Amino acid sequence: MLKVEALEASYGDSQVLFGVDFAIGKGEVATLLGRNGMGKTTTVHTIMGLVKARGGRVLVEGRDVTGAPPYRIAQAGLGLVPEGRQIFSTLTVEENLIATAAARFGAARWTLERVYALFPRLKERCANMGNQLSGGEQQMLAIGRALMTNPRLVILDEATEGLAPLIRHEIWDCLKKLKAEGEAILVIDKNVDALASFADRHVILEKGRVVWSGSSAALLTDPELKDRYLHV
Ligand SMILES: Nc1ncnc2c1ncn2[C@@H]1O[C@H](COP(=O)(O)OP(=O)(O)OP(=O)(O)O)[C@@H](O)[C@H]1O
Ligand SMILES: [Mg+2]
Repeated sequence: MLKVEALEASYGDSQVLFGVDFAIGKGEVATLLGRNGMGKTTTVHTIMGLVKARGGRVLVEGRDVTGAPPYRIAQAGLGLVPEGRQIFSTLTVEENLIATAAARFGAARWTLERVYALFPRLKERCANMGNQLSGGEQQMLAIGRALMTNPRLVILDEATEGLAPLIRHEIWDCLKKLKAEGEAILVIDKNVDALASFADRHVILEKGRVVWSGSSAALLTDPELKDRYLHV
């Protein structure tokens, strides 16, 4: 589904990624973990073509998309829910959802109705402007907007950051539902325990390198891992 090989990236002269490797299979949920500034967002942005890869390759279903423009990479099947959500504040909920449908790839698996079934709250708010939504509703909209492109893999950068506990659980429940429906997901989130309850695989980044990867069971049974790589 997604294969990242020896990915390297820099901002100006300062190198941030040093050969990041991982893969996500069909229907799998993987996480990207690590403390602040370790390169999670940069990894995702390099995958999406928003940051130029200095080395390595990004393969989507075996197709090399390294260096392709972001819209091409989206069309190849990667749907990003960006850090900070970036919904259109002067468009309605429904207009936000329709706006990305232009980038649709293949069969229209995701429709407005299906997004509204996943997030009934968005249906209630369909005529509200983006800037009239709560943080949780904005995140639901950002997820819905990514789904409307019919991605083969949904990528969430900081899935629940800044949200109230109740809303966080709603977002995690939504990810579990998506997994149950066969969607592949790459999720960044600081709440390791919540992710470990449903993710298949975890990848820990430290200073732009993968320092550990493994299953939820392996992650949960090794308290030293959390102390060493995840706690502030
Ligand atoms: N636009 C940029 N220009 C220069 N340096 C940057 C830029 N964005 C990130 N960096 C640097 O690259 C490194 C990795 O940052 P990145 O945002 O990928 O980390 P992160 O793991 O997503 O952190 P966080 O958990 O805080 O979101 C950090 O040292 C950061 O300061
Ligand atoms: Mg980040």
